[in-house]
Amino acid sequence: MEKIRVGIAGLGIVGASVYKILGLNPSQFNIVAVSARDKLKNRELDFKAIAWVDNPIDLAMRDDIDVVVEVMGGDDDPAYSLVKKSLQHKKSVVTANKALLAKHGLELARLAEENNVGLYFEAAVAGGIPIIKMIREGLAANTISAIYGILNGTCNYILTTMEQTGQSFNGVLADAQKLGYAEADPSLDVDGGDTAHKLSILTSLAFGCVPDLESMSVAGIRAVTIEDIRVADELGYKIKLVGQAQISEGMKILHMVSPSLVPKSSPMAHVGGVLNAVLTEGHLVGQSFVAGRGAGGLPTASAVVADLIDISRGTKICAFGKPVTALSQSPKVSFADWQGEFYVRIGVKDEAGVIADIAPILRDSNISIESLIQKGHATEDPVSIIIMTHDTNGQDVMTAMNKIATLKCVLEKPFIMPVLKI
Ligand code: HSE
Repeated sequence: MEKIRVGIAGLGIVGASVYKILGLNPSQFNIVAVSARDKLKNRELDFKAIAWVDNPIDLAMRDDIDVVVEVMGGDDDPAYSLVKKSLQHKKSVVTANKALLAKHGLELARLAEENNVGLYFEAAVAGGIPIIKMIREGLAANTISAIYGILNGTCNYILTTMEQTGQSFNGVLADAQKLGYAEADPSLDVDGGDTAHKLSILTSLAFGCVPDLESMSVAGIRAVTIEDIRVADELGYKIKLVGQAQISEGMKILHMVSPSLVPKSSPMAHVGGVLNAVLTEGHLVGQSFVAGRGAGGLPTASAVVADLIDISRGTKICAFGKPVTALSQSPKVSFADWQGEFYVRIGVKDEAGVIADIAPILRDSNISIESLIQKGHATEDPVSIIIMTHDTNGQDVMTAMNKIATLKCVLEKPFIMPVLKI
């Protein structure tokens, strides 16, 4: 077997781990050149026999490289130009870059096909969990009807720690930042964007459609309170940030990211800390569930190197499982079309008549209440009223809550979470 000649762009925690693993397999892989922002940073790696390239895009043009590994991140240059030019120069690309794929995946997959090379991205979703290969290859005989994913370790860590310690979102986030578990700018993680990038890739693979971030409604975990976690627990649920995609009415694809109530009877409810998990429903196999490390140097590098091993074995596969021209443009819908039960928290003045004001709005929106909880007296306003609805849809709940938000007795924007049946 010929050695695969590799160029690596990015020597952060993932790139350095890839470098180390490939160095242990010198008969299979030959690292020819590397590129990173800071040449002088102490990485405890020996680069003596390897070319250092200041501009990563130059890796695309080198004749002595077969495969470019892009582990820099970012949805634009230099990652975008590097991947694009590498494919144009007939080099296969292995990338861990979900943001890039969510934004430019279709164009890059097309370029890979036109140039008869591969675009591989096992590391881009759920790190070390082989979810791309599971959906694209292992479940290929199935019609998939739904995917649910805990795809962001930072959010799962924060929610789990809130539950275990009783600390607020802001308190846990601040500690996580001090310990280096959360980014200095955590918004991509905690506001759901990272989960959305990953979900858009899984949706495309599972349903054979073009990746589409625009139509997805995305909510993060900033608004989740300890009270939500406690009440959900009493009702038999855990709160998780879930990216979900499913076939909805009229063969539309519903996809959305939202903090969600997950029944404790589901394996998803017990995925704690920084772990990721994905649950799929296929018509032949039923439910499949995988969990594991979704980030970190070695787990992510494990997925990058798995792709390199595929290349060395001569495995060729379309990036999204089908040629780009065969991917459907199926209409996508999001939160407004989600059908099921909802958890709603409304912050109100602790005074008589509040329920009398809220009830007619729910009635007029056809929302039937399964349970209504108000705990104790407020020492200060607002006090929370928590409503579990019967089956309804996101649009009716949003319409009702927008009206309820205008009531004088309502002091906070109502907070809505879907209740999953998984
Ligand atoms: N920031 C991501 C997470 C890891 O917290 O899961 C990289 O995708």
